[in-house]
Amino acid sequence: MRTKLCVALDLPTKEENLALAKSLKPLEGITLKVGLRSFIRDGKDFVKALKDLGFSIFLDLKLYDIPNTMNDALKECIKLDIDFLSVHASSGKVALNLLTNTIKEQKSKLSLVSISILTSFDERGCFEIYNKDIKQSVSTLALLTKECDVPAIVCSPHEIELVKERASGLFIITPGIRLQNSSETKDDQKRVLTPLNAKRLGSDMIVVGRPIYKAKHPIEVASQILKDLSL
Ligand code: C5P
Repeated sequence: MRTKLCVALDLPTKEENLALAKSLKPLEGITLKVGLRSFIRDGKDFVKALKDLGFSIFLDLKLYDIPNTMNDALKECIKLDIDFLSVHASSGKVALNLLTNTIKEQKSKLSLVSISILTSFDERGCFEIYNKDIKQSVSTLALLTKECDVPAIVCSPHEIELVKERASGLFIITPGIRLQNSSETKDDQKRVLTPLNAKRLGSDMIVVGRPIYKAKHPIEVASQILKDLSL
């Protein structure tokens, strides 16, 4: 399967996000990611505007709460007719099972996406929270994701092989993408790789934010990434 491109709409205003979305329209097959900032500010009308442009939508809310509260939030998200919704894998088995059941019961097309270890974590940060190293933590959470029938997972490109080995068949989404392997361009991301390398390792969809929207010519960068992904 060809690796897809998901562009994170993390710009400071709705107008800038919409302008970027419109300019990306001619490049076929892009998914747009609406994160916390955009959703809190611009809400469901913004999601609808992007859907009306014909994009598939990844609503990246990274839900983490008690099962019932997450399930109520999921039901509201299903009404938005989005394609992907993220929740933290560490919200646990009961929550994940409840959500996957709701999606089945409602015959929704929404794919739940479980967040494993954020790509902004390094080994030390991961150990502080999970008391395990990144590989062990991702491994546990990937297994949980699969056991609960969650179809997709987010991890860094460095854990793709591990996830494939531990929990085969998951749709693997990888942020932490940078155009060069240079430390100056990492921003707050710690575990990064280029689009081509993420594709070679078997990422199903890469998520790219700043390397596209902060570029002088975002469309050229997005086109180049799509070219790399089609190699
Ligand atoms: O700008 P950059 O390419 O680093 O953006 C990555 C995007 O992916 C951001 O919107 C961030 O919230 C999201 N993300 C992430 N790590 C995860 C899940 C999502 O960086 N584990």
